[in-house]
Amino acid sequence: MSNATAGGPGRIAGNGAVVARAPAKVNVHLGVGPLRPDGFHELQTVFLAVSLFDTVTVRRSAGLSLEVHGEGAADGAVPTDARNLVWQAAELLARHAGVAADAHLVVDKSIPAAAGLAGGSADAAASLVALDALWGTRATRGDLAALAAQLGSDVPFSLLGGVALGTGRGEQLSPVLARRRWDWVLGIAGEGLSTPTVYGELDSLRAAGELPDGVAAASTEPVLAALRSGPVGALAAALSNDLQAPAVRLRPELREALRAATEAGAAAALVSGSGPTVAALAEDEEGAARLAGELAGGGAFRAVRAVHGPVHGARLVG
Ligand code: C5P
Repeated sequence: MSNATAGGPGRIAGNGAVVARAPAKVNVHLGVGPLRPDGFHELQTVFLAVSLFDTVTVRRSAGLSLEVHGEGAADGAVPTDARNLVWQAAELLARHAGVAADAHLVVDKSIPAAAGLAGGSADAAASLVALDALWGTRATRGDLAALAAQLGSDVPFSLLGGVALGTGRGEQLSPVLARRRWDWVLGIAGEGLSTPTVYGELDSLRAAGELPDGVAAASTEPVLAALRSGPVGALAAALSNDLQAPAVRLRPELREALRAATEAGAAAALVSGSGPTVAALAEDEEGAARLAGELAGGGAFRAVRAVHGPVHGARLVG
């Protein structure tokens, strides 16, 4: 972790607003170990940040207030009160820095909620970075990472971005150098899936002997080697997600959606995180555009997005 401050008061625009954005993620490997006494599962995961971003704009205000626009805002899928992770992020940073939690936050969502893409975590990470600059708290990246881990298992990665190996409940990160660009198409389903429900289904399937017990220590070396240098076929062969089987059990249409992606020319397709988004790996940028066009015309997804990764984590814009 660098000791550089994450933002700094110098980034406040003339109108008093500070803007930050943070990316969605795909787990290219998600090995789930046993349930721990604290209710979390021990993970061995490889995160890849992809080019679908939420933006958070913050301004000085008396007390906390929140507006949410974009994906999922109209249908009430994203709360605008203390249940929202960005609200909790603001309170946590204010407490840490010993300042009043005075800010108006506006979240512009492109990342769908409850989709397995860490959209809420991206919003929280972007809020930490933006509020650090607005309030001049001069937190280091290390400080922000520690606060992020208190907010949720995926928030530290939303802050870091790029490619990283995640252990513990996913919050302990080792950055991985991977310069090669990877092109994907995200197939977004109509309705979200609850992360605890998907983990619970995995536990039930394992308890019933329908799935082997989890080994969190399964090797991530093949997927890391493929990510670093390719070719696409090597990454396609190395993709794996222990939450895919329970997600498919809960949402049987996912099986069809995964098949639709490979039939449309994806090198491979897997469920992203706890789902229900399908991440389809393409040969290159052109291949992703073609695949996105193909999948947009079929009935398997509500929306499709061509993205690439790795991209940067939460940072100030402008
Ligand atoms: O950390 P986060 O709040 O995102 O986790 C949401 C839920 O997902 C947890 O309450 C838990 O049920 C499940 N989870 C888990 N093991 C992890 C991460 C999350 O069981 N490593």
